[in-house]
Amino acid sequence: MTESSELQGFYKLSLEERLRVLKKATTLTDEEVRIVANTGGLPVEVADHMIENVVGGYTYPLGMATNFKINGRDYIVPMALEEPSVVAAASNAAKIARVKGGFMATNTGPMMIGQIQVVNVPKPENARTKLLARKADLLKKANDQDPMLVSLGGGAKDLNVKVLSSLRGPMVIAELIVNTGDAMGANAVNTMAEAVAPMVEEITGGRVFLRIISNLADRRLVSASAVFDKEALGGEDVVDGIVYAYAFADADPYRCATHNKGIMNGVVAVGMACGQDIRALEAGAHSYAAKSGRYKPLTTWEKNRDGDLVGRLEMPMAVGLVGGAAKTHPTARANIKILGVKTAVELAEVMGAVGLAQNFAALRALASEGIQRGHMKLHSRNVAISAGATGELVDLVARRMIEERKIRFDRAKELVAELSKGKKTG
Ligand code: MEV
Repeated sequence: MTESSELQGFYKLSLEERLRVLKKATTLTDEEVRIVANTGGLPVEVADHMIENVVGGYTYPLGMATNFKINGRDYIVPMALEEPSVVAAASNAAKIARVKGGFMATNTGPMMIGQIQVVNVPKPENARTKLLARKADLLKKANDQDPMLVSLGGGAKDLNVKVLSSLRGPMVIAELIVNTGDAMGANAVNTMAEAVAPMVEEITGGRVFLRIISNLADRRLVSASAVFDKEALGGEDVVDGIVYAYAFADADPYRCATHNKGIMNGVVAVGMACGQDIRALEAGAHSYAAKSGRYKPLTTWEKNRDGDLVGRLEMPMAVGLVGGAAKTHPTARANIKILGVKTAVELAEVMGAVGLAQNFAALRALASEGIQRGHMKLHSRNVAISAGATGELVDLVARRMIEERKIRFDRAKELVAELSKGKKTG
């Protein structure tokens, strides 16, 4: 157990020194310290500058989803995540989508919202009018912060002002609408929001507190759609099952959370692989799903006249190619190269298509054989490996556990002992 978590001056230490302190403060063995210290493909100096108090790295498996055709172009899609079956499911869904031409995807452009909260405003409605009357000045002040973005066609484009009635009385919220181009945009938008705040105070006579981007990026939407051939997906009964599954999610937030989680399996895995802020993606997705006041699916599913399945996805997708880990993390850079996307909106479109594919794959499995067979196959291999199986023993132990319907660590240990003995004597 850790005696004290007050590691004085930890942040000032070199990485090696931090590891020494950490080892002393915990029960880590030398081997475990080496594991924690391993940064994988990320140079130590880069890691040390990305976040604070760095001691090492944490590596996820990186898989490549195959078969994706989006807007007529083929993509090999990198996915970083810990969950078995997701990459296989995406690849399989993309293969079925190809039968009818693959995915179509569009986007609304990279517009983000920066919010400036003004309280203690004597006359909120008047303040609103006054702010709107000074829109040009406010946008200029915002754009002065980022001449580079402006020169590339981006920058603050519009101002929205609303009066909220809140727990603490009325407050005025000024919103900068910013085209963030190929950046995710949090830095650009937050800088602009902070820069215009004094002017907002002066115009309104109120007091500004928060100046921050909104992750409900509902002006940065991506849409993806695909037709899934009924024969290729397993027959009209499965089509019906998927349409019923969608109706279930639409009617019930408990199911809908899981439905949308399945979409995020794909979106977040590509986001992780490409160095995106996946917390922002999750926040955007779920707040958009609840925007009507009821939590709704991010996809819709219906049967067309031919009996084929038609899926559509619409969700915020705040991703960038310049700035952040997309630029600094060498694996993210390599993954973006594998994907071959040239702009942030193209990356958003790919991620939308992967989200739709992932949702299709999950619903298809759920509406037919269920997901556990595929899951258990991979899970049993993981259990076998953690119980010490290596080489061909991994599959042998995994298969026996599936046959016996006992996918458990203790059984895996017994099987490893039993089967490796058999191998030695045999
Ligand atoms: C598991 O990670 C995702 C699913 O639960 C999604 C769904 O139920 O739609 C299979």
